[in-house]
Amino acid sequence: SLPVDSVQALASKNLKNIPSRYIRPEVEFVVSIDESQQFPVIDMSKLDNDDEQKKLHQACKDWGFFQLINHGIADELIEKMKIDTQEFFKLPLEEKMAYAQLPNEIEGYGQTLVRSADQKLDWNDMLFLFPLPVPLRNMRFWPTNPPSFRETFDKYSTELHKVMIYLINRIAKNLGTDPEMLSSFFEDGAQAIRTNYYPPCAEASKVLGASPHSDATGLTLLLQVNEVEGLQIKKDEKWVPVKPILCALIVNIGDIIEIMSNGEYKSIEHRVVVNQEKERLSLAAFHSPKAGTEIGPLADLVRTNKAQYKTMSLEEFLRQRLSRKVQGKHLLNQMKL
Ligand code: SIN
Ligand code: FE2
Repeated sequence: SLPVDSVQALASKNLKNIPSRYIRPEVEFVVSIDESQQFPVIDMSKLDNDDEQKKLHQACKDWGFFQLINHGIADELIEKMKIDTQEFFKLPLEEKMAYAQLPNEIEGYGQTLVRSADQKLDWNDMLFLFPLPVPLRNMRFWPTNPPSFRETFDKYSTELHKVMIYLINRIAKNLGTDPEMLSSFFEDGAQAIRTNYYPPCAEASKVLGASPHSDATGLTLLLQVNEVEGLQIKKDEKWVPVKPILCALIVNIGDIIEIMSNGEYKSIEHRVVVNQEKERLSLAAFHSPKAGTEIGPLADLVRTNKAQYKTMSLEEFLRQRLSRKVQGKHLLNQMKL
């Protein structure tokens, strides 16, 4: 990959015209915005109730996205995580660079990997960490400033993992497959947390904080850190802006769950727009199954319907994904039979 400059440093120069590599062709913005759609909200404390469980099923089928409230993570922990995240990005660039990504590696402080000199760049800096499995943690990338960062992050990671496993069990039930089997794939799997910083941009309407993509992994739990909106999801060929509920988690189905569900659930394309005056921060936690898991439609789901996707090892799946430039649902379409 090619080195990219800190967008935060670039934004602080207050340039009137930003470098052309960030400017998107207009076609990327012509798709209209639909504000009328009711984004699903799921109450986790009510999932024992059949109606809420059905609502979850519909959200996974029709939207691939929902907001999760009453998820059991203490407001104090969420608040602390938000503060520590903001404090980290406030550090001087030199201090953040102590955690900089190594060439061709995603982990650490930096930007999305760039594969070619003509690839458009995202208006985004990030800190990418792999909190789980614990033995594989690479502490050299974990900030020691603010001083509470590591402890807060560790607690947050543990709590998110619990919520993820709870949801995986509920999803399995809704799909009609064995909850214990599906959750066993994810129990000892990997968790990656991407802390996003989107600086304000003088030409906000011409750049993207994140190019349209679907998440490659199983289940994503996103926390919007400050009160600036930016996430949009593609529904019926229109972009629907997400209006986050304070302290709710935004959950989305990733490619792996779409494949395992044999297409019943959808991994939805989404993107991030940025703000002209305000910075935006978010924390996206990705969860994948454990090493050795076969990625393909679950056996229970191909008894009556035929398999819609190829089956391959998790390692092969991730290798293919990482070797390609992120482009909408490109890879997922290649997995289709
Ligand atoms: C992403 O999906 O890549 C980031 C989402 C966000 O920042 O809201
Ligand atoms: Fe994403």
